[in-house]
Amino acid sequence: MSEFNIKKLTPLDWLTYKAVRLASLEDSPDSFGATHECEVEILQSEWESRLDPTGRAKNALPLVVEIGAIPVGVAWGLIQELDPRIAHIYQLWVSPEARNKGIAKALIKRISAWSIERGCEYIALSVTTANNAAVHLYQSLGFVPFGPLEELKLGSTLMTQKMIKDLRNAA
Ligand SMILES: CC(C)(COP(=O)(O)OP(=O)(O)OC[C@H]1O[C@@H](n2cnc3c(N)ncnc32)[C@H](O)[C@@H]1OP(=O)(O)O)[C@@H](O)C(=O)NCCC(=O)NCCS
Repeated sequence: MSEFNIKKLTPLDWLTYKAVRLASLEDSPDSFGATHECEVEILQSEWESRLDPTGRAKNALPLVVEIGAIPVGVAWGLIQELDPRIAHIYQLWVSPEARNKGIAKALIKRISAWSIERGCEYIALSVTTANNAAVHLYQSLGFVPFGPLEELKLGSTLMTQKMIKDLRNAA
């Protein structure tokens, strides 16, 4: 069965979040600034705190995707106080077996709808320039490059490009 379900994560889901986040960092180290080596050391209280809707996740939409009871994807929407006109997408990952079924598109659609409800005018993300699948996906959804290239991590030869989409005329 390949029908998928998108669920909002709460602190009670910290083990699910931990599993899917660590799987993403292990599978796709070149897609993220964080590393598996660092995140594997994180304590339960930190995983729960990241998901706290009255605290650190107050302006966030942490999502997991499940097929049956198996988590196969993750993504966050986040609005920073510094500039509430822009919503950001972070941590987007779909497990290799679940790719090309429209899961990433569904996650981005869900975060875009949430961002519009929250009054955001733009949605933004950063992508490693060598990540053809992700760059192609974002371009197909109307994201355009914005600003200079930046190092993925300190000392990395991989570069990231910020991409942004104007939500003001989005359907
Ligand atoms: C990028 C990623 C999130 C896409 O997830 P997905 O669920 O497979 O994506 P969807 O099925 O919703 O969309 C597939 C789209 O991806 C793009 N795509 C997928 N594989 C591709 C490839 N090899 N080359 C070019 N484009 C590709 C296409 O735009 C495709 O849409 P189309 O079939 O309509 O042309 C997934 O490959 C992934 O998790 N990669 C590793 C982690 C990562 O790179 N995360 C993004 C960080 S910015």
